Amino acid sequence: MSEMQNIQWFPGHMTKTKRKIAEILPIIDAVAEIVDARIPISSRNPDLMGIIKDKPLLILLNKCDMADPKETAKWISFYKNKGIPAIPVDCKTGRGVSDFKDKVKEILGDKLESYKAKGMVGKPLRVMVVGIPNVGKSTFINRIAGASRLKAENRPGVTRGNQWVTVDKQLELLDTPGVLWPKFEDQKVGEHLAFTGAVKDAVLDTELLAMRLLENLSENYRELLTARFGELDFDLDSYDLLCLVGKKRGMVIRGGETDTERAAKMLLEEYRNCKIGKITLERTNDNA
Ligand code: G4P
Repeated sequence: MSEMQNIQWFPGHMTKTKRKIAEILPIIDAVAEIVDARIPISSRNPDLMGIIKDKPLLILLNKCDMADPKETAKWISFYKNKGIPAIPVDCKTGRGVSDFKDKVKEILGDKLESYKAKGMVGKPLRVMVVGIPNVGKSTFINRIAGASRLKAENRPGVTRGNQWVTVDKQLELLDTPGVLWPKFEDQKVGEHLAFTGAVKDAVLDTELLAMRLLENLSENYRELLTARFGELDFDLDSYDLLCLVGKKRGMVIRGGETDTERAAKMLLEEYRNCKIGKITLERTNDNA
């Protein structure tokens, strides 16, 4: 179960993580932020840019196996236009993960050169891997470090307890020191995180959540919805559309009404399990 599902959000958490990141920052060469390719806006930490200041940033669009490849490509160029290198990855199968090392070495090429010039050949690059809970940080680190995974001891000048992972002679990773939060005070962000299962449904009303998801899918993925559930009427409001989707699946109770609670659960589950298709819920021109 993800940390997000258990955690109580306190301002104290944020302060603590901010402080820990700030402490470690001087010995970090770059930051790799993992985001969920299906919701690249909502799965980012709103304060990260301010915390890491001018440290080089690399964005990993993870879970791209579940996202719309066309939209992922748009996101990659969107970041590129902002001067932020980004790569798509699928940590579940490992696709794209090997590009990470090359990208880091490319971004930090000058640094590697200067280490070499100073005779510091053995000095590895240090990258801090950050991301909100459930975005795939552990899966990524395990995948990239593979069998050679080593938890290095605490280093001088480094906060005790930080977990370093050696990837190869030139690269060391550090997992987020603390919990990085999403912009959870924003209702839309909360909903989008709930669509993907990053936060528990119980926090939000299941039917309402399913209605919101249908609204989002009706905008951009009508064909996929129709392919999955049969002919639908997109002029209906989201509640009636949910009823129709449920009916198509035979989820009818006494009096011929749809069991909307069941229909809602089914819809959310099928979205999360990628049964409806590869879907991106946030676009580069959205303002979440
Ligand atoms: P975290 O450290 O950032 O909190 O995330 P973690 O690695 O625990 O990953 C959270 C969930 O996301 C895990 O699923 C993990 O398998 C899944 N995941 C990570 N990367 C990818 C990816 O690229 N594609 C897909 N499809 N899933 C990914 P889980 O349901 O919690 O566990 P399990 O299914 O692995 O048992």
